[in-house]
Amino acid sequence: MNAYWLEQSDADVPAENHWLSAGEILSLGRMRYPKRRNDWRLGRWTAKRALAACLNLPRDLLALANVEIRAAASGAPEVFLFNQTAPVTISLSHRAGIAMCAVAHPGTGIGCDLEVIEPRSNAFIADYLTAREQALVAQTLDEERALLVNLLWSAKESALKALHVGLRLDTNCMDVSFNNGLPPHADQSQQDLPFVPMGDVDTDGWRTLHVRYFGEQVFCGWWRHANQMVRTFVSALPLYVHFRALKSPTLDSNLESWTDGDTVEIPR
Ligand SMILES: CC(C)(COP(=O)(O)OP(=O)(O)OC[C@H]1O[C@@H](n2cnc3c(N)ncnc32)[C@H](O)[C@@H]1OP(=O)(O)O)[C@@H](O)C(=O)NCCC(=O)NCCS
Repeated sequence: MNAYWLEQSDADVPAENHWLSAGEILSLGRMRYPKRRNDWRLGRWTAKRALAACLNLPRDLLALANVEIRAAASGAPEVFLFNQTAPVTISLSHRAGIAMCAVAHPGTGIGCDLEVIEPRSNAFIADYLTAREQALVAQTLDEERALLVNLLWSAKESALKALHVGLRLDTNCMDVSFNNGLPPHADQSQQDLPFVPMGDVDTDGWRTLHVRYFGEQVFCGWWRHANQMVRTFVSALPLYVHFRALKSPTLDSNLESWTDGDTVEIPR
């Protein structure tokens, strides 16, 4: 299977709203706080741009209004095309004027998350990380600690999104492990990790990780550090995954068929 990701910033979002559906404009009107409105618009914009590329939809602003991202009861984003459920699953995150959208086939169970690399307190580490993760942090050099702690937190949030529960679940039921790359000074055993072929992870610096949920279900995933932010993506399916960037602004030219030969019917 393939999964795709796209990031957009506040500066990419059109000032006007005619790329939003009628339902989305109503939802926006109910939001009282400017920050929430901005984040929500940025997330919707990023999702619509990613979906237009993945589903080969027209890219003009009016056509994007036919794509609607609604919140399920859990808060998880669901995609509708022309008011019908779209054959696709997405995950969204927005932070500090940047949004990320990950796109995959329906039923895949994916989650993505963006975090600013910022200092986190000892209380945060004690409250939200497992004992094994705390040991990993303790072994890490000071200058790498903020990256590691935010990365661990982000991977947990991605997995909580993939489960469609969010922070209703205790983050201590998620345990994050790395296959390579970080932290360079930690002595972490890889023996108990499942073999998950990760496919041709793209060249944008993504590295692999695993999130073990309650010691049973294992999410395979990736993380990437750039521009003072860390991003994570996880998938519940331990399949051979192609995880590719949707390169903006060359969305129109740089995309392979995301369906990989599968038929995706798009209602008109
Ligand atoms: C999901 C959650 C962990 C994300 O928190 P966050 O790191 O602050 O925010 P992010 O920008 O990374 O992600 C937000 C996006 O996650 C998605 N999301 C929200 N709830 C989700 C869920 N249960 N499952 C999957 N995705 C979810 C939404 O697309 C949301 O963006 P949107 O509301 O603009 O559509 C958090 O919102 C949460 O735990 N929500 C569920 C608990 C809840 O409902 N609390 C009450 C809030 S008032």
